[in-house]
Amino acid sequence: MERLQKILANADVASRRASGEIIKEGRVTVNGKIIREPGAKFNSFACEIRVDGQLIHVHDKKIYIMLNKPKGYISTVYDPQGRRTILDLVPPMGVRLFPVGRLDQDTEGLLLLTNDGDATHVLTHPKFEIYKTYLAVVKGVPGEDRLDLLRDGVRLPSGHTSSPAVVRLIKASGSCALVEIKIGEGRKRQVREMFDIIGHPVTSLTRTRLGELVMGDLEVGSWRHLTQAEESWIQRMAARSGEGITSCKKIL
Ligand code: URA
Repeated sequence: MERLQKILANADVASRRASGEIIKEGRVTVNGKIIREPGAKFNSFACEIRVDGQLIHVHDKKIYIMLNKPKGYISTVYDPQGRRTILDLVPPMGVRLFPVGRLDQDTEGLLLLTNDGDATHVLTHPKFEIYKTYLAVVKGVPGEDRLDLLRDGVRLPSGHTSSPAVVRLIKASGSCALVEIKIGEGRKRQVREMFDIIGHPVTSLTRTRLGELVMGDLEVGSWRHLTQAEESWIQRMAARSGEGITSCKKIL
């Protein structure tokens, strides 16, 4: 038995969050009955599930693509303004792929694309503390006292205090420095905001690692399927998706 929201996401109807909205809007029927509870559990292989009257096709095939996103592409699957999106960089895979988290338009680096809603949830939700590693070129050369502020956590413009980061100065030249930063969260523009706060704005940002996934020498603009070892890691992570759910409403 699986949550209806998850069944829809796995059938590529929409992302997990959007699927929840579709259900709440009363657009989903299970065996002819409208269900408005995203957490309602069903056996997707034994039920007839329709969205706006259309039968959904349940499949299990999970695809995982590692992309080295170039600057200038946005991390969505569709842009109403017609800007270039990450999907312009990968061929059609026969399933609906979603990015795992976002990279800013002007950020490069490792972006995972998948149709696995559980993996996306675990890799992006801060409670699972999956570390993301970035290389930042910053203005000026931050001293250890400034980097300590990032290690301790700084108050972001949103009011949230960042969790402790692992930070190391890799290289310094007169007017700029290369810093590696590892964080367990992924708030919008978080790394840029953190460096702004310590007075060393980022001029270039690249994500090099997501948990156990390492970008290595994958060229900018290129993609590859994950290796078997990487997929096993992802699937172990995806299995943690239900953690923290303490009650499930039974609808049928
Ligand atoms: N932090 C940022 O500031 N930008 C990104 O793209 C990712 C993390």
